[in-house]
Amino acid sequence: MFVRNAWYVAAFVHECSERPLARTILGEPVVLFRTPSGPCVALQDRCCHRFAPLSMGDVEADGIRCRYHGMKFSPQGACIEIPGQSVIPPKMCVQSFPLVERHGLLWIWMGEAQRADPELIVDVHWNDDPAWPTARGYIHYKANYQLIADNLLDFSHLTYVHRTTLANAAFPNSHPQITPFERGIRLVREIRDCEASPLHAMAGRFEGKVDFWNRQVWWLPSVFENWAGSVPTGAEGAPHERPGGLHLRHFSLLTPETEKTSHYFWVQPCQFPHGDNSVIEQVGQGIAKAFAEDNWIIEAQQKSWEACPPEIQPLSVRNDAALGRVRFMINELLKQEQTPAPLHSAA
Ligand code: FES
Ligand SMILES: [Fe+2]
Repeated sequence: MFVRNAWYVAAFVHECSERPLARTILGEPVVLFRTPSGPCVALQDRCCHRFAPLSMGDVEADGIRCRYHGMKFSPQGACIEIPGQSVIPPKMCVQSFPLVERHGLLWIWMGEAQRADPELIVDVHWNDDPAWPTARGYIHYKANYQLIADNLLDFSHLTYVHRTTLANAAFPNSHPQITPFERGIRLVREIRDCEASPLHAMAGRFEGKVDFWNRQVWWLPSVFENWAGSVPTGAEGAPHERPGGLHLRHFSLLTPETEKTSHYFWVQPCQFPHGDNSVIEQVGQGIAKAFAEDNWIIEAQQKSWEACPPEIQPLSVRNDAALGRVRFMINELLKQEQTPAPLHSAA
């Protein structure tokens, strides 16, 4: 079960072209494409005639033509041509989904279309700001998105899963300050006078100890913003505000595919204290390596979870505080969506 009234990333903008892209989102088949002169659109990937996938069809100037019997659909999903028939019944259409192109990403709304307010899209502007060299990636996960969310919300795993990339021995004992707000939670963590993680030491070219920070936001249901960085230790003031710091403006953007699989988009805009932006290549490789480490443990965890009898529940510890809070908030959203709206009668 998924929260439907939310913006999810359907694709990177560069993935959407005149060649249809098939993607399952929240368990529904979706086709993404753009006509030669129009914006990207998202339609149900199932022709309403005999259910052939529209993603196997051809994009034309004014829509997409099904490859089976040639019916054509407009970018809004209306059938505009039926070969061999001049009358087009109004119900001949496929569902279209609100889709917004912003910050290099395509955001889709799978819920009630009238509630799709673009103001609710998380600000990821660093992703298309030339002042921020950016690494990006995508992982197809064989795991439910909430297991990935759990991982991102508990950094005590960095010490154990990411020994050669993000590890910092201080993580398990550096409990973040957690502040809930209407759309999720904020987490703030600072670790002073510590060894830089291997990735930060490389990216920032730090030789001595650093002060480290995470300023994170979990945007319900599944966007993780992580402004992380390090700055040489020994000065007064908040580490993230001091000059000479390494800044990583990371976003993990999770989109459920099915109950057992997920799309994981990530972007990693950076600013380097030394100004040598070529380091972004190595940062991208380091992040991809770290996320492969997460993938390794989480996919194994998914299998273990599936094999576990339902009467056995996982046990919680202090470092589960943030993930427990987010799971609770997601359950509340699911309950709200399943509660029928009150009937209004005319006075
Ligand atoms: S299945 Fe698409 S036109 Fe027949
Ligand atoms: Fe991780």
